[in-house]
Amino acid sequence: MKLYDVADLKKAGEGKLKIEWAGKHMPVLNLIKERFIKEKPLKGITIGTCQHVTSETANLVLTWVAGGAKVILCASNMLSTQDPVAASLVKDYGISVFAIHGEDKKTYYKHLLQVLDFHPQITVDDGADLVSELHKTRQGQIKEVIASSEETTTGVIRLKAMAKDKALKVPVLAINESQTKHLFDNRYGTGQSTVDGILRATNMLLAGKRVIVCGYGWCGRGIATKMRGMGAWVTVCEVNPIKALEAAMDGFEVDSIARAARYGELFISATGDRHVIRTDHMKKMKDGAVLANSGHFNVEFDYDGLAGLAVSRRTLRRNLEEFSLPGGKKLYALGEGRLINLAAAEGHPSEVMDMSFTNQALGVAWLVKNKGKLKPKVYILPEAIDMQVARLKLRAMNLHFDTLTSEQKKYLNSWQEGT
Ligand code: ADE
Repeated sequence: MKLYDVADLKKAGEGKLKIEWAGKHMPVLNLIKERFIKEKPLKGITIGTCQHVTSETANLVLTWVAGGAKVILCASNMLSTQDPVAASLVKDYGISVFAIHGEDKKTYYKHLLQVLDFHPQITVDDGADLVSELHKTRQGQIKEVIASSEETTTGVIRLKAMAKDKALKVPVLAINESQTKHLFDNRYGTGQSTVDGILRATNMLLAGKRVIVCGYGWCGRGIATKMRGMGAWVTVCEVNPIKALEAAMDGFEVDSIARAARYGELFISATGDRHVIRTDHMKKMKDGAVLANSGHFNVEFDYDGLAGLAVSRRTLRRNLEEFSLPGGKKLYALGEGRLINLAAAEGHPSEVMDMSFTNQALGVAWLVKNKGKLKPKVYILPEAIDMQVARLKLRAMNLHFDTLTSEQKKYLNSWQEGT
């Protein structure tokens, strides 16, 4: 059985330093790691995980290992693997990693199966590919799995669909539903790292640009806000009238994609849905328009459709492709339509992954503790854990917050007192 598949073990030195730097900015996860070293809540547990192989993920993996687990890791995206980090995890920490930056689809799926070859008792996903592969191709192994955990919005949507179809056979923990995950990671993490990815791919000026953000969930909110902070004129496209209204009252232009297609200069999707930007929109776009996606899968703008419209294409820079349409108009696609913050940049900064991955570390311990008590449905972490993560983060940031007096508690619990 193969123990790892990474690009180049010689890159381990660089990766080790990256892991160390990220770890310095993940104080809450480090606290949990200290606790795990003492309590060993994951003793004897094999965790199979499919995540973006970044320096932040490496710190999560090492936290689980500190808790007594054996961890096997593969990539959750073909373009997000940081090869030096993958190499260091193998060489310096003895972790089995199956991830190569730029791997093709066949290799991506082979790597998922190589993780399952280790017979994990816990699976952890970012996008639900591992748990879905378990259900599709390794049904015999399902009974060995205590539970699964899922990091992201798109994965949670897939798992809820599986549960609705009665196809879900293991309990699943939706980490994204924790407030200390989506309110921070999706908003501030995606916001900042999407700007970062677009700048690394294009080096374009954002000030004064007409930026169209499709989707006003927590990720879209973050992207729109950070783009405005850079001086862009931001228009939000939404299908949900409440979110569209919210965007309007947050001070953004709101418009349909069919209309915005005509004036947008940079389009960014963050919806979790497919073909939000279609070829009929692309045909209306101005010469020079740039398309980027920050949603989990590469389906949000019709990349293949764009290629089909083009009479020729070429790569101008890393992660920047030019498509020439009949008549001479040129459109530009970033990172092959894959999530730009990880394809062209390094994903969310460590400080925000600190909270997401503390939820993930504690989440797996919670699943192990509740072994045998959970049903095959989607769970969220208890609020007490969410609050604990927030408290620890505030403490790490050296910030103080208030507590209710007993008079205030009594007041909040009484209904007799009025005007
Ligand atoms: N998802 C978004 N950013 C990430 C990061 N830095 N590491 C792992 N997963 C991520």
